Amino acid sequence: MANFKELLLPMLALCILYPLAYAVNEDLLFIKYHIHITNDMPPDFPPYIPALSLHCKSKDEDLGEKELSEHQDYTWNSSINDFRTTLYFCNARWEKKQRYFVAFKATRDEHRCRVYHNSCLWSVRGDGIYFSNNNSTWTNEYPW
Ligand SMILES: *[C@@H]1O[C@H](CO)[C@@H](O)[C@H](O)[C@H]1NC(C)=O
Ligand SMILES: *[C@@H]1O[C@H](CO)[C@@H](O)[C@H](O)[C@H]1NC(C)=O
Ligand SMILES: *[C@@H]1O[C@H](CO)[C@@H](O)[C@H](O)[C@H]1NC(C)=O
Repeated sequence: MANFKELLLPMLALCILYPLAYAVNEDLLFIKYHIHITNDMPPDFPPYIPALSLHCKSKDEDLGEKELSEHQDYTWNSSINDFRTTLYFCNARWEKKQRYFVAFKATRDEHRCRVYHNSCLWSVRGDGIYFSNNNSTWTNEYPW
C-alpha cells in the first residue's frame, strides 16, 4: 500500500486547499469592477481631431458603438460570473487604425484590477492601447 501513502498527503492537501481557493473566488464574485477607457489620441492632427470609435461587448451584452471626443472617459461596470468566464472585448477605430483588445477578462484581471478602486484603466494613445491598474504606470498592451 505504498501508493496509498504517497497519495494521502496530496489528497489531504487538495481537500483542504480546494475549498479555500474556492472561497477566495467566491468573494471576488461580489466585487464590482470599473472599466475605464480614455481617448488620449494626440491632438496634433489639424484641422480635425476625429473621434475615437469604440465598440465593446461581451458574450451576452453589446454596449454599442461609442464616439469618444478628446480625453473623454468611457466607463462601465462588470462583476465576475460564477464560471469566471466574464470577458469584454472592444474594437477601437481611429482614422486608419483599428485594433481589437480585451478590456476585461476575469481570469486575467480579477486580481490586478483590484489595486485602484477595483478599476481596469485603458488609455488609447497614438502608438497603442495602454493599461494601468493604478492610474500611474501605463504599459502599451495593444500596440497599433
Ligand atoms: C458603476 O459603479 C459606480 C460606483 O459604484 C457608480 O457610481 C456608477 O453609476 C456605476 N455605473 C454604471 C453605468 O452603472
Ligand atoms: C486618473 O488620474 C487622473 C489624473 O490625476 C484623473 O483625472 C482621473 O480621474 C483618474 N482616473 C480615475 C479612473 O480615477
Ligand atoms: C503602479 O504599478 C506599477 C506596476 O505594477 C508599479 O511599478 C508602480 O510602482 C505603481 N505605482 C504606484 C504609485 O503605486
